[in-house]
Amino acid sequence: MLELITAIIKPHKLDDVKEALLANGVKGVTITEVRGFGRQGGKTEVFRGSEYSIDFVPKIRLEIIVQASEVQTLIDVIVSAARTERIGDGKVWSMPIGNLTRVRTGETGVEAI
Ligand SMILES: Nc1ncnc2c1ncn2[C@@H]1O[C@H](COP(=O)(O)OP(=O)(O)OP(=O)(O)O)[C@@H](O)[C@H]1O
Ligand SMILES: [Mg+2]
Repeated sequence: MLELITAIIKPHKLDDVKEALLANGVKGVTITEVRGFGRQGGKTEVFRGSEYSIDFVPKIRLEIIVQASEVQTLIDVIVSAARTERIGDGKVWSMPIGNLTRVRTGETGVEAI
């Protein structure tokens, strides 16, 4: 069983999260620069020292395909590495994925992680 973990984190926490994921055996990660807001509407968040007065605050989205048995451990790892205890620290969620294929070899499922 495969799952996709998606995490939205603060950009300055990316290196910490990456190191924590590598230390826990993660084989691959995709990141995207995104913008978003949570329940404060983005209005009171600080980014690079200045308060953001617009609705969408820069964040990093991570996508990680893992075995289902690893999901809870890795979510805990991400949360621990990404936490600053200030607003805007982000969200982490997971969902099942139906198919995975390694393009180079044609391997599928867990073998393709
Ligand atoms: N309900 C949501 N749906 C989709 N994306 C969300 C949602 N909530 C937060 N996000 C994304 O996560 C980012 C960080 O959210 P944030 O940490 O501010 O959530 P929060 O619920 O407001 O928590 P906090 O009170 O700690 O700030 C947002 O900028 C947005 O990209
Ligand atoms: Mg918020």
